[in-house]
Amino acid sequence: MKIIAGNWKMNGTPAALRDMMAALDNVDTENVMIICPPFPMLCTCGATHRAALGAQDVSAHDHGAYTGDVSAAMIADTGAKYVIVGHSERRQYHGETNDVVRAKAAAAIAAGLTPIICVGETMAERDAGQTMTIIESGVRECVPDGGAVIIAYEPRWAIGAGLTPTRDEIAAAHDLIARTLDTMGIGTTPILYGASVKGNNAAEIMSIPHVDGVLVGGASLKPDDFIPIITSVK
Ligand code: 13P
Repeated sequence: MKIIAGNWKMNGTPAALRDMMAALDNVDTENVMIICPPFPMLCTCGATHRAALGAQDVSAHDHGAYTGDVSAAMIADTGAKYVIVGHSERRQYHGETNDVVRAKAAAAIAAGLTPIICVGETMAERDAGQTMTIIESGVRECVPDGGAVIIAYEPRWAIGAGLTPTRDEIAAAHDLIARTLDTMGIGTTPILYGASVKGNNAAEIMSIPHVDGVLVGGASLKPDDFIPIITSVK
């Protein structure tokens, strides 16, 4: 059983989300399916579907004068079960640090959500030979004490670029994350891979040890692209 999560980023419409959720109801799979649309669409889905919903960000604060922000309790109230925190694009465009990400993940857990915590290296960090350090410190600094989380390893240079690391690079990153989580006493935490996952590489990527699923961007927007990723693995 794998976890297949779609991150719609700032794309989609309520109608497209309803179509996707209905299409996923009919997929013959035991995999966990998650769709993370923009905030307003979380409320537009209505009845229960087989796929779970998640948000793409959350405030670290409970309530108050934080214009534009959305609290974890508000997300949970929509029926969503997950929230992505620390995505590369949040780090890049909103300056989120590991400390901010940990606070957001803690807020999510407190509201009963499962945070999908993203870690990964930039191209500059990769070129400087810092990939493993960035990944390990990301896991240690972003995971709060207590509560279930999911880790997503997203090599930031590969996102949306049609690039993927080699099988050995993904294996090394996921092995390091698994060992790090083990030393933190949470060795059963699922670890997803994300960046340029498509129908034609998903099965290969999910055959790598410690790859417990995928976090998909562009290829999660349409059922015809997303469903083959889900059905490519048992
Ligand atoms: P792409 O699949 O479009 O590369 O995006 C990956 C991603 O950022 C998922 O969170």
